[in-house]
Amino acid sequence: MTVRVAPSILSADFARLAEAVACVEQAGADLIHVDVMDGHFVPNITIGIPVVAALNRVTKLPLDVHLMISDPDRYVDAFAAAGAAMITVHAEVLPHLHRTLTHLRHLGVKAGVALNPSTPVGVLSDVVAEIDHVLVMSVNPGFGGQTFIPHTFAKIAAARQLLGSGDRAAAIEVDGGVEPANAAALVAAGAAILVAGASIFGQPDPAAALHALRRAAEGGR
Ligand code: DX5
Ligand code: ZN
Repeated sequence: MTVRVAPSILSADFARLAEAVACVEQAGADLIHVDVMDGHFVPNITIGIPVVAALNRVTKLPLDVHLMISDPDRYVDAFAAAGAAMITVHAEVLPHLHRTLTHLRHLGVKAGVALNPSTPVGVLSDVVAEIDHVLVMSVNPGFGGQTFIPHTFAKIAAARQLLGSGDRAAAIEVDGGVEPANAAALVAAGAAILVAGASIFGQPDPAAALHALRRAAEGGR
C-alpha cells in the first residue's frame, strides 16, 4: 500500500501560504490538507472558499479539504468549484449522509467522511459503497498541535475491517498528532493517508520533517 502524506496548512504561516505549499510540494507531499472551521461545529475559525481557490492557483497537488463546519451541504458546491479534489464532511452533522456523499461524487470530487474521536465507525456501515476515504480524527477537531489519542489505533483497525481491503476499498486518513513516532504503527493499523500539521509546518525545516515522516511511515508498510 502506498502511503500518502498530507501536510496540513493549519500550522503554516497564513501570511505565506504559497511559500509553505511550494516548500512541501517540492519535498514530495502527496496532498495539501486544508482545514476549514466555522466557529460553530468546532471552537475555532480558519479559512474558506477564497483561500481554497487561491491555493488551487499556486499548486498542482490535490487539495484535501476537511470541512469542520455545521452545514457542509450548503457549501460543498462552492468548495468543489474552488478546486477541492477531495472533500471530507463530518458524520456528526449529517442526518442524510448518503445523499451528501452521492452529491460529492456527482460534483467530481473524492467523497470523504470524518469521524470525531467519540463517533463509532459503525455509523458508516450503510454508506461504505459511497465513500472514497474515511478521515479518522485522532484528536478532537479544532486546533493543531494536540496530543494523539491512542485509541485511534483500534479505531483505524475497525474502520479497515468495515471498509474492506481490495484495490477499490476506501482509504483511511488519520488526522491529529501524527508524527514520526506513531507513523509506522498508524500505517500498520491500516492508515493510507497521514495528515500532519505541527510535525511538518511546526518544525524549523518542514521539508526535512516531511522526509522524516515519510521514512517513518514506510516502516509500517
Ligand atoms: C485539527 C485539524 C488537523 C490539524 C492537525 O482539527 O483537522 O488537520 O491541522 O494538526 P496536527 O498535525 O498539528 O495535530
Ligand atoms: Zn484536518
